[in-house]
Amino acid sequence: MMNAEMMEIIEKERAYVATSTPEGVPNVVPIGFIKPLDEKTVIIADSYMVKSRANLESNPKIAFVVQDAARYPYQFKGSVKIFTEGKYFDEVVSWVKDTNPLAPSPKAAIVITIEEIYSVKVGDAGKKLA
Ligand SMILES: Cc1cc2nc3c(=O)[nH]c(=O)nc-3n(C[C@H](O)[C@H](O)[C@H](O)COP(=O)(O)O)c2cc1C
Repeated sequence: MMNAEMMEIIEKERAYVATSTPEGVPNVVPIGFIKPLDEKTVIIADSYMVKSRANLESNPKIAFVVQDAARYPYQFKGSVKIFTEGKYFDEVVSWVKDTNPLAPSPKAAIVITIEEIYSVKVGDAGKKLA
């Protein structure tokens, strides 16, 4: 479960989002349109993903840290479901449009169920927080 601080910082900041191929080749990308929906759910607007999307289609595991991990030293891990229609998809379409009317409309909503949270803080790095 994410706490209030975790949810706030995911809402505010860009995150670095890692996926991997079924063979285990890692891939990491910066993502701006990422925000929590509730204590265990995070949504991403997929507007540009290529390798990340292909990875998630075959391997739903995902991990991310926020940009300012020095202040917010959390590592989030989970599994995704991908939606190209329906309420989650509509949500990311209006979110992107309301934020930047000139941005291309998202291709999909990536909905993450958070399964584990670890500290990456020097000193207690690796400690499981949730
Ligand atoms: C600052 C920044 C923010 C970005 N935000 C998003 C985003 O919200 N959604 C998205 O799909 N791609 C976003 N991108 C693009 C991805 O980082 C990446 O270029 C894209 O997923 C293609 O890489 P891939 O083939 O490894 O997935 C962003 C890129 C930058 C530099």
